Amino acid sequence: MAKIAIMGYGTVGAGVFKTLTMNREAIARRTGEEIEIKYVLDLREFPGDPAEEVLTHEFTDILNDPEVSVVVETMGGLKPAYMFTKELLAAGKNVCTSNKELVAEHGVELREVAREHSVNYLFEASCGGGIPIIRVLNTSLTAEEIEEVTGILNGTTNYILTSMADEGKEFATALKEAQEKGYAELHPEADVEGWDACRKIAILSSLGYGRHISYKDVPTEGITHVDKTDIEYAKALGCRIKLLATSRRDDNGTWALVAPMMIGRENPLTAVDGVMNAVMVKGNAVGTTMYYGSGAGSLPTASAVVGDIIDCVKHRRTTIRTDYSAEPLMLIPVDEVTRPFFVRMRGDEGAARAAFGEISSVTRLPGKEDEFGFLTAMMPEKEFKALLAGTDQVISWYRRGKNEEAEEA
Ligand code: HSE
Repeated sequence: MAKIAIMGYGTVGAGVFKTLTMNREAIARRTGEEIEIKYVLDLREFPGDPAEEVLTHEFTDILNDPEVSVVVETMGGLKPAYMFTKELLAAGKNVCTSNKELVAEHGVELREVAREHSVNYLFEASCGGGIPIIRVLNTSLTAEEIEEVTGILNGTTNYILTSMADEGKEFATALKEAQEKGYAELHPEADVEGWDACRKIAILSSLGYGRHISYKDVPTEGITHVDKTDIEYAKALGCRIKLLATSRRDDNGTWALVAPMMIGRENPLTAVDGVMNAVMVKGNAVGTTMYYGSGAGSLPTASAVVGDIIDCVKHRRTTIRTDYSAEPLMLIPVDEVTRPFFVRMRGDEGAARAAFGEISSVTRLPGKEDEFGFLTAMMPEKEFKALLAGTDQVISWYRRGKNEEAEEA
């Protein structure tokens, strides 16, 4: 019998409790022993809830209990989750978390503390909710040199962009719905400004390329400026606007970016709608692979946490090896990256050519006589931004995301 504790009985913590109860037999069969929840730590009371019987308000009850071998951290935020996690690992307890903020900020140190004490700090639920992407990078794709990781990694923003595109909803209405469904972060800026996706791509890219990428180095743009007319242009061009979190490595170096991009049908991420997430990983031997699933929500995220608990129970007193060095990986500026850009501007095509040179896919929307949209030629981002600075007629612009495999085919 393995005894565990859950710290934080919110959306994910309650999902972990429910999953362990609902799938008790299957989990025991796969783990080789039963898993018992000995404590739930939360400041609140939960009268009538099954967690009531094991509820504690004292962290030290968990820390000082030698029977507890695995602790789930679903509190979120840095304080007090960071200190609690460090103390638990130092006390020889495994910790499984969904807390991407903590993993991105202190993951390197916490993994080292875990290693020193022959336990594990596992964070499958921190990226892509229920999608088992961390395990894929740590286990299944270990034969590869990873060349690219690109994903839709935030359920809330994908839900909002899908509602705006398919149902014509306003940004604020769609955000409220996502919050009501339990997808959004406590402070919606973390989702809509792209910070949540930024932390996730930093974690996945670090695992993919084997060296630490700080989320602070990843240029990040959110979706607050995306308007309904931009989405109409995207549709007219057979595209979608998606918040992509991406990183690539080639002979020139590695770059990463989080930004709303215009992607076409050649890119399978266009089909990822609503709260769903997906991650494409490209390896030099396997080519492009893709992983899809619920990126947020109680039970999908809990499923990933419970998978980690089971791994910890199966690997008692053993730190599972991962290729993730603390050595920082310096990113090259996104300004060097070459691609076409979508531009929406006022005036006529002559002015667009004068400002941006060769243009294509010129698109006009009914009722919008004084503006139009087009694609530029491929150019480095710094060149595009220099051209952009030379005109005051641009209303909005997007990077046109490309799927190289589709282009090569
Ligand atoms: N707020 C996050 C999202 C939750 O919407 O994807 C899962 O990390």
